[in-house]
Amino acid sequence: MFTSLCVVPLKDCEIKYFDFSFLSLLKLLFFYCFNPAQRTAVFGFTRLSVMSSHRTVGMRQLRVAVVGAGAAGLCAARHILSRPDTFAPPVVYELAEHVGGTWFYEERTGSYDNGLSIHSSMYRNLRTNLPKEVMMFPDFPFDPQLPSFLPHQEVQKYLERYCQSHCITPHIRFSTVVDEVSPVVTEGKGPMTTWEVTSGDKSGSRNTETFDSVFICSGHYSDPHIPSIPGLERFKGKVIHSHSYRHPEPFSGQSVVVLGAGASGLDISLELGRSNAQVTLSHGKPTLPFPLPYGVHQATPVEEIQEDGSLRFQDGSITQAQVLLLCTGYNFSYPFLEPARLGLEVQEHLVTPLYRFLMPPAFPSLFIIGICKIICPFPHFHCQVQFALAVLEGSVALPSRAEMEEEAQGEMARKVERGVQLRHMLKLDKEQWGYAQTLAQTGRFAPLPPVTQSLYEEVWRQRQVHPQNYRQLNYRLVSDTQWEQQELHAGE
Ligand SMILES: Cc1cc2nc3c(=O)[nH]c(=O)nc-3n(C[C@H](O)[C@H](O)[C@H](O)COP(=O)(O)OP(=O)(O)OC[C@H]3O[C@@H](n4cnc5c(N)ncnc54)[C@H](O)[C@@H]3O)c2cc1C
Ligand SMILES: NC(=O)c1ccc[n+]([C@@H]2O[C@H](COP(=O)([O-])OP(=O)(O)OC[C@H]3O[C@@H](n4cnc5c(N)ncnc54)[C@H](OP(=O)(O)O)[C@@H]3O)[C@@H](O)[C@H]2O)c1
Repeated sequence: MFTSLCVVPLKDCEIKYFDFSFLSLLKLLFFYCFNPAQRTAVFGFTRLSVMSSHRTVGMRQLRVAVVGAGAAGLCAARHILSRPDTFAPPVVYELAEHVGGTWFYEERTGSYDNGLSIHSSMYRNLRTNLPKEVMMFPDFPFDPQLPSFLPHQEVQKYLERYCQSHCITPHIRFSTVVDEVSPVVTEGKGPMTTWEVTSGDKSGSRNTETFDSVFICSGHYSDPHIPSIPGLERFKGKVIHSHSYRHPEPFSGQSVVVLGAGASGLDISLELGRSNAQVTLSHGKPTLPFPLPYGVHQATPVEEIQEDGSLRFQDGSITQAQVLLLCTGYNFSYPFLEPARLGLEVQEHLVTPLYRFLMPPAFPSLFIIGICKIICPFPHFHCQVQFALAVLEGSVALPSRAEMEEEAQGEMARKVERGVQLRHMLKLDKEQWGYAQTLAQTGRFAPLPPVTQSLYEEVWRQRQVHPQNYRQLNYRLVSDTQWEQQELHAGE
């Protein structure tokens, strides 16, 4: 059934491969006539040659590589496939044997058989912290029969369905690791950039292919951030990071200090508490305003491990523990990129400069999808991907490199002035809605419906007040602007 579903669109794409369509011609005419003088040609052509560059591109569709087949990579592939006038079918590289990325639960911790680190940080009992009505790609709802807050298995199924419905699977190279992505700049009528993507598959063979653009969709929650705690090596118990946490049973009856009260720290502390562990949730936030279950109490951040292996907290109090569970977040990591060559600086919690949090101004045909934090990930990817494709199609007039750098750096400077710490620079939070709106306006695609923001904000409020119970609520979208809360399920 799956094969027959895919035959028609694939054939369709192949037929259109050399097609120089009427739509492309119209676009060319439009951009030739109306683009402002400051336009940056994505492929490096000067303004005068933009027309001819696009004509070339129109005749041989743009080739795009996508690194990763998680939610972001699938979203990129779906939108690329929907524009066969401009784009050849993408090549999606995926190191695992399946799609889903984070949402594919992997019981193992450590490494796969091939020695690569396990990618997913998913744990067994995780349920979504966004309702499906907000979390979904705006053009692809979850099954309406499901409750709003889903176990991770349902999200994995949803992504598999998304992949199948959009006939993405034939374009994915599974068990294939991208180990190098590098720009190749050639001089013609002006500098022109293509990208060499080098990958290795499980047979051990390495392969380099050339593309016009690369979407980096390799995820941002796989490389554990280990804070530098003085004396950490003196701790006599077990130190683990939430990346390697799977379920609470091994911790039952044990004393556990959980460091960090982000989504992982809080959620895992609650489930450890329910499993009869004695939990100290150590964090630098204001005291959490809601009651925590029996067995879980709060402490200031761990400051040092003392000579005898005990933990000293910032307020001077001291405790012994059997486990130190670091829920301290993740580092940005792109082992296949050479940041300096791209004019980028990659730090643990920051990548700069990125125009629109998306592309290096020096190479605006490379797109890093989903680098921002405190966002609605799937809708955010949906907007970023469409904006990126509009850039590649030439329907977004980019400013000059210098202007893009200035905008990206100015954004950071304003955050510093507001007292935002370096590690929080990429948090969008309330700014995410204006950001998505701007991308949609500039890229000329449908904006997110207002109901996404209003339900997201409602759930955010509920989460602050009822962190243990908010997932029992169910919602229904009534229209693009309205949602309603539904009755609780029996037994909840
Ligand atoms: C514990 C946890 C809970 C979360 N809960 C929610 C939630 O409730 N709701 C929500 O909306 N979001 C949640 N998120 C955020 C989640 O990260 C996003 O929903 C989304 O899955 C991110 O998708 P992605 O494609 O960017 O990255 P990933 O899902 O990480 O996918 C990246 C893919 O790239 C592949 N890859 C990486 N490097 C290479 C390489 N070199 N070569 C080839 N392939 C490569 C990986 O194998 C992987 O398949 C959660 C995240 C975590 C860690
Ligand atoms: N569906 C779910 O229920 C669920 C569960 C888990 C995770 N997630 C998602 O997974 C992603 C990652 O979440 P995460 O919680 O793992 O990472 P995170 O959001 O980056 O949170 C890490 C936390 O650790 C704190 N921290 C770091 N170093 C510290 C130190 N030395 N001392 C004290 N605190 C320290 C950080 O504090 P600062 O803020 O001060 O830096 C931050 O609050 C997010 O998208 C999240 O929504 C979802």
